Amino acid sequence: MAKIIILTGAGISAESGLGTFRDEDGLWTRYDLNEVATPEGFARNPALVHEFYNARRANCRGAAPNAAHHALAALERARPGALRIITQNVDDLHERAGSQAVWHMHGTLAGALCAACGHRWEAPEVMQPADPCPACAAPATRPDIVWFGEYPYYMDVIWDALRAADLFVAIGTSGTVFPAAAFVQDAARAGVATLELNLEPSEASGDFDTVRYGPATELVPAWVAEVLATQAD
Ligand code: APR
Repeated sequence: MAKIIILTGAGISAESGLGTFRDEDGLWTRYDLNEVATPEGFARNPALVHEFYNARRANCRGAAPNAAHHALAALERARPGALRIITQNVDDLHERAGSQAVWHMHGTLAGALCAACGHRWEAPEVMQPADPCPACAAPATRPDIVWFGEYPYYMDVIWDALRAADLFVAIGTSGTVFPAAAFVQDAARAGVATLELNLEPSEASGDFDTVRYGPATELVPAWVAEVLATQAD
C-alpha cells in the first residue's frame, strides 16, 4: 500500500478563519515573534505570551475544520495505515475532522507544560503566569508549543517516515521554517515523489516534482479524489 506523508502548515487552516503567519495580515505582521514565540520572550513577559496563546486558543475553539481537513480524514479512513500527517499547526482541526495519525511537531494549543519540571497536562482555556504546575506547584506554566530556538517534537520518527514514503505532500506552508522546510529535499533525496498544494508558490516550490496552486479547500479534496480513484496499491 502506497505510504503518503503529508506536511501541513497554517494555510490549511486559513479557510477555517485561523490566521496564517506570513501572509498579508498574518500573525507575525501583528505580533513580534521574538516577544511571544521564544523562550526569551516568555522569560521576559510571561503574561504577554499567555495572552497571545489564550487568544489563539479561543480563536481555535471558535473555528471548524474545513473541506481540506475533512478530505485528509476521509483519505485516512479509506487507506488505513497508509497516511501520516505531520503538522506544523498547533490547532486541533485535523483531529476534529477525524484524522488520527497526526504528529504535531510544533506542539498544540491544547497542551500545557511546566517550564520548571517538564510535566505536561491538558491546558485550561485561559492560562495565567501564576498558575501552579499540577505536579510541582511551581508558577512556571507555559503553553506546550515549540518556540523558535527549540527543537521540534517527533523528529526521531519523522526522518525515517519521510524516507520510507512513496509520496510526500506539503499543504499550506511557506517553506520558510526549518526543519520542516527541508522535508521535501530529504524525501526527494530518498527517491520519494513530492507534491506541493499551496495558495501560491512557496520558498520551497522549486524542490517539488509537482506543484498545484489554489485554495486548500479546492486543491485537497480534488487531490484526495484522484488518489481514491486509483486502485488501492
Ligand atoms: N490554501 C492553501 N494555502 C494557503 C491558503 C489557503 N487558503 N492561505 C494561505 N496559504 C499559504 C500561503 O501562501 C503560505 O505559503 O499558506 C502558507 C502559510 O505560510 P506561513 O504563514 O509561513 O505558515 P507556516 O508555513 O505554517 O509557518 C511555519 O512558522 O511561525 C512558525 O511555528 C510557526 O508553524 C509555523 C511555522
